[in-house]
Amino acid sequence: MSASSHSIEHLLAEAWRVREQACARYSNFAVGACLECADGSLFLGCNVESSSYGLTCCAERVALFSALAAGQREFLRVAVVAETPEPCPPCGACRQVLFDYAPTLQVILGNRESHLIRGIGELLPLGFHDDYFRRQDRS
Ligand code: THU
Repeated sequence: MSASSHSIEHLLAEAWRVREQACARYSNFAVGACLECADGSLFLGCNVESSSYGLTCCAERVALFSALAAGQREFLRVAVVAETPEPCPPCGACRQVLFDYAPTLQVILGNRESHLIRGIGELLPLGFHDDYFRRQDRS
């Protein structure tokens, strides 16, 4: 499948679909994410909560980590959805990790009513990046 062959509506629909799998027994706040890779493949994530709350993993990072584990390294867009009054914004931790692995990513923020699109660099202005400590011999 070629790059950017999915409609925004499809990415949002997939995010809503995986949101059904959210393991959100503590917050009761379910989130879904659909990450589109450069080769057109899609990786889905929902939030997975822990009884030790800080170990919870957000939907966006579940999707990203799944894609990385499958060998994907180039990412185009991610759709994030939840039942929020405004289109659901990624948390600060996810903004950082998404920026680390996909500094040109387009983020589609969605709720039941609408969506909006922002670059990850807009969502994380002056973001920290590994260029600041990169060494020549690091892979
Ligand atoms: N959550 C996400 O999955 N993504 C975000 O960007 C915001 C927060 C989850 C984490 C936790 O399971 C619940 O929403 C409440 O914070």
